[in-house]
Amino acid sequence: RIVILDFGSQTTHLIGRRIREQGIFAQIVAGTAPVEEWLDEGVRGIILSGSPSSIHDDDPPLPDRRIYSQGLPLLGICYGLHVTAHLQGGEISRAETREYGPAPVEVVTNHEITSGVSRRFTSWMSHGDAIRRLPPGAREIATTSHGVTAIVTIPECSFVGLQFHPEVTHSEQGIQILDNFAAGVCQARRQWSVENYLGQLQEELRGQAGDKPILLLISGGVDSSVVAALLLQTFPPEQVHLMYIDTGLMRKDESVEIGAALRKLGARNLYLIDAEERFLSALAGVTDPEKKRHIIGDLFISVQEEEIASRLSGDYLLAQGTLYTDLIESGHGSGGKAKSIKSHHNVASPLVKKKREAGLILEPLAALYKDEVRDLGRLLGLPEEIVGRHPFPGPGLGVRVLGEVTRERCDILREADAIFIRELRTAGLYDAIWQAFAVLLPIQSVGVAGDSRAYGNVVALRAVTSTDGMTADVYGFEPAFLRTVSAAITNGIPQVGRVVYDCSGKPPATIEWE
Ligand code: XMP
Repeated sequence: RIVILDFGSQTTHLIGRRIREQGIFAQIVAGTAPVEEWLDEGVRGIILSGSPSSIHDDDPPLPDRRIYSQGLPLLGICYGLHVTAHLQGGEISRAETREYGPAPVEVVTNHEITSGVSRRFTSWMSHGDAIRRLPPGAREIATTSHGVTAIVTIPECSFVGLQFHPEVTHSEQGIQILDNFAAGVCQARRQWSVENYLGQLQEELRGQAGDKPILLLISGGVDSSVVAALLLQTFPPEQVHLMYIDTGLMRKDESVEIGAALRKLGARNLYLIDAEERFLSALAGVTDPEKKRHIIGDLFISVQEEEIASRLSGDYLLAQGTLYTDLIESGHGSGGKAKSIKSHHNVASPLVKKKREAGLILEPLAALYKDEVRDLGRLLGLPEEIVGRHPFPGPGLGVRVLGEVTRERCDILREADAIFIRELRTAGLYDAIWQAFAVLLPIQSVGVAGDSRAYGNVVALRAVTSTDGMTADVYGFEPAFLRTVSAAITNGIPQVGRVVYDCSGKPPATIEWE
């Protein structure tokens, strides 16, 4: 495998992504972690990531220096280059501001790292610090048109450094360069695949759980559904307890579909809890979005605790659908260096904290990326409607019915959302979109109904493309498609008089409206 030392760059997880796409296993560890924590015979090469820090900062994050004397191939990206060049006796110039953008690169010396790469290509640079003086013995492999060192090698410590970011899609030939390193220089074998991983994962899970009961809370999303399928195929069905709390804030038919899919997978201990009444009465009269989120989150925890207490006790394990990116984003996977961007989405409940402290947490997807999880789901026999489903926020329709949340307003939204999604599927657009949904606005707008003026609800449609939800682009529908959806919604739902399309990207807007 290839180990990636993470110094906190937002694109570190993409490095791992690109390498795994080539069939080579990549593992991300904290950039400052001592070698004892991760170095073993399976490691074929080490990548040092970029960082928001500069080597000129007061206390820059430094790798364990012993990496430079293992004889293992090393690749430094941006900060990973600067920190290495600095430690090896080079000099790094300091930049006052960081600029990002494309930069033409020209290869000036032959090296395996640029094998199959054209002599000139466009790279994606972060114009921050750069090499001013090469360390002793270093050779320049490529430069930018401004004479900045773009690729350099320090043969003494088997190091290659890149000033640019090969992992971002804007860097032409970036994938080739990463693959030249992993498969070429490091000679790592291409044997990573979800199929190969499944057997190993099942073995690990059995070792961890023994014959203790396992509880999984199902949200209806892809991740927890895949964990459910995995548990049911790894353990005797009696050992697996699945709980699904219907908050009344789910999409149309979602609860029924989930229940049916889990039964088909052989679920025996399946607890489908109808808590709609409780959620809607707790939300009655509340319009403030943050208040709504809190009410939903707190109530979810108390319903969960009550329902679990009446069914399980003692040393049971709690399984979670945590993904690799969740760990990286919340800072766990990188020793707390990566910025904690999505922490508000995955606030750990007291139960999760307690189980984690007791070592009773199973996180079988913690080494996987979202699309690998989808592949695993397919392999385990989950239907495409669940595996390919768009992400859905924890508080559900609670943050998509703007203003007060009532059953009637949820029903209107569910219906509008289902029509939108149906039309997307009919037009073959669903899978091209990261997330598409309808939002019910808290205003009424005028329309004509027969001879009189009528005030109806307004539904906003949202459809975005994204790779991770951190940034998003608006999906560019043909106007005719939007007219079709609008007509289907206003004809099908008498309470809706107008449909609008949200055409703001993220940033500055967020994907959800509340
Ligand atoms: P935003 O709206 O922040 O959404 O651009 C980014 C992604 O996160 C989802 N999201 C949530 N997920 N609880 C969740 O579990 C939440 O409170 C929440 N808010 C947003 C959103 O659907 C999108 O995929």
